[in-house]
Amino acid sequence: MKTTTISAIQAMEILDSRGNPTVRVFVELSDGTTSVASVPSGASTGENEAIELRDGDPSRYAGKGVLQAISNVKERLAPALFGMDPYEQPLIDRTMIELDGTPNKSSLGANAILGVSMAVARAAAVSANIPLYQYLGGVGARRIPIPCMNILNGGEHADNNVDFQEFMAVPLGAPTFREGLRYVAETFHMLKKILKDRGLATSVGDEGGFAPNLHSNEDAIETIIQAIEKAGYKPGEDIAIAVDSAANSFAVDMKGSYDLKWSGSGKMQSSDLITLAEEWVAKYPIILWEDPLAEGDWSGFSQFTDRLGKKIEVVGDDNFVTNTQYIRRGIEEGTANSSLIKLNQIGTVSEAIEAVRMCRDAGWRYFISHRSGETEDSFLADFAVAMDGGHLKTGSASRGERIVKYNRLLEIERELGEAALYYWK
Ligand code: PGA
Ligand code: ZN
Repeated sequence: MKTTTISAIQAMEILDSRGNPTVRVFVELSDGTTSVASVPSGASTGENEAIELRDGDPSRYAGKGVLQAISNVKERLAPALFGMDPYEQPLIDRTMIELDGTPNKSSLGANAILGVSMAVARAAAVSANIPLYQYLGGVGARRIPIPCMNILNGGEHADNNVDFQEFMAVPLGAPTFREGLRYVAETFHMLKKILKDRGLATSVGDEGGFAPNLHSNEDAIETIIQAIEKAGYKPGEDIAIAVDSAANSFAVDMKGSYDLKWSGSGKMQSSDLITLAEEWVAKYPIILWEDPLAEGDWSGFSQFTDRLGKKIEVVGDDNFVTNTQYIRRGIEEGTANSSLIKLNQIGTVSEAIEAVRMCRDAGWRYFISHRSGETEDSFLADFAVAMDGGHLKTGSASRGERIVKYNRLLEIERELGEAALYYWK
């Protein structure tokens, strides 16, 4: 690769898909290459996530401004990285981690650090004149992830009476990504029609899925199955279902007590939720379940995996927070058999890659994910292809900040042509 160095780094405050401030970073190289990257933001966050620095000034955006993070990019990170080789991603990320000096990036902000990390990776790819997915994943990066499309929202992502946060349609029976995307987009439209016919709301939640008031959590899954069938597909064969309970949001004490408050189902223990999941998995074509229990409920999580881990992918999100420290514990204790991977939970591209490597080495799967607050940046699409994990979640077939990722995956598939792969496992 040719020699080039980082010559400038700039940043500005922009808005995310919820209208909250977030960080956009611009990187310039000595060869004239420029790049830009924007940082996402979660709502149902894990306790141990890297810290997103917010100003806390009530006179701006109710305290959610990110001017301090912007200033940290310009005043602290830019001088430290000036003159460095953009191809040395791990070194660049380590330099920022050391400059921050805290275990959770609370000093400079994970939003400041990740923005730079992503923009540097993109600048290096542009300068090398290769697509970002190939720069990050090498010549073997040719597998397009199956889009686990979140078509029905509950929990913290919606104002309705469904406790579980995400119900995803997974087009694992499609021959290609573009066909898979069509299967689930058609299912999304059919679901809208069914909800409308039932007189239910068809407004969408933060990730673009519908958020109707239903009779029960089970009604959510049955309505999705109906939508799959009415759209002309076979549940389980063409399209399976994935669930993210995001159980933190209805946990009472993080130790095994829950209150399914939105649906009014009331108090439950870990064992009740495991029994419910076993019933659902026996009855419905569920292939993946994320955060079935809360982040502090390590023993409940392990029991869940004991009982269901042979049948389905059990994913840890809020408990692992894309951090090898927690993923390692999960591997040792058999907590799950897969980890969610969110770039901003850990705060640098190379640490997210390390989390993926750890999963792979343990024979785990890993599930690449957007955040509920997103931007029009399509970085995640390239990252998912590069990581070769076979599936991703990036919201529904609505809202531009979700669609931009799907459209980028369509582009990558087209570019790869015959070389593109698409399969569940
Ligand atoms: P978040 O939700 O981005 O609001 O954290 C996504 C998830 O829980 O997977
Ligand atoms: Zn989650």
